[in-house]
Amino acid sequence: MTVKVKAIIGSTSSTSFNLKLVEFMKKRYAGQLDITPVFINELEMFSVDLESNVPANVKEFKDNVKDSDAVLFAVPEYNFSIPGALKNAIDWLSRGGDFTIKDKPAFIIGSSMGVLGSVRAQIHLREILSNPSLSPALLPGNEVYIGSVHEKINEAGELIDEGTVAFLDQVVQNFLAFYNKNKAVSLV
Ligand SMILES: Cc1cc2nc3c(=O)[nH]c(=O)nc-3n(C[C@H](O)[C@H](O)[C@H](O)COP(=O)(O)O)c2cc1C
Repeated sequence: MTVKVKAIIGSTSSTSFNLKLVEFMKKRYAGQLDITPVFINELEMFSVDLESNVPANVKEFKDNVKDSDAVLFAVPEYNFSIPGALKNAIDWLSRGGDFTIKDKPAFIIGSSMGVLGSVRAQIHLREILSNPSLSPALLPGNEVYIGSVHEKINEAGELIDEGTVAFLDQVVQNFLAFYNKNKAVSLV
């Protein structure tokens, strides 16, 4: 059985390296993970004023994320944190009283063109996700920081750095073991 994963693309760039990584993972782990990218580009800026009449594309986004066994966050770093568009999407996920991702198995990958590979963004993301209205069952450890990503992905969108690919393979295996332990919790 493949695990149905919705991958929230934290970048709004049409040439996003983080999207390319997700597309690479979709192909490489096809037998184990059924990955679908979820885009956040068109989401309205969150406001409590909109909560009485939530925009249709926000509802669609939340339903799409909910319709999954697990969630993957693909995170670039903007100014030592997560991009504003991703924070906006997460703010929507946290509201409405439906606890869209609570207890849902989740894991994080991230890359940047700098050497630290989005480490600061991911530290912030883990903190944000620990809010009780979000609180997915987040894979501990397994911190995927892909630095200098522009040198590790070729024209065809393939991850060509062997060490990074081997590490990603291991993280996916660790996630699957974690998923199998946690899926019972996420189904209640
Ligand atoms: C507004 C902005 C801020 C950025 N800030 C950082 C940063 O703080 N640290 C970093 O390593 N890279 C930073 N970068 C470079 C990004 O890592 C790089 O653009 C990366 O490709 C973004 O991911 P994406 O290709 O998936 O969109 C920044 C880029 C932009 C556009």
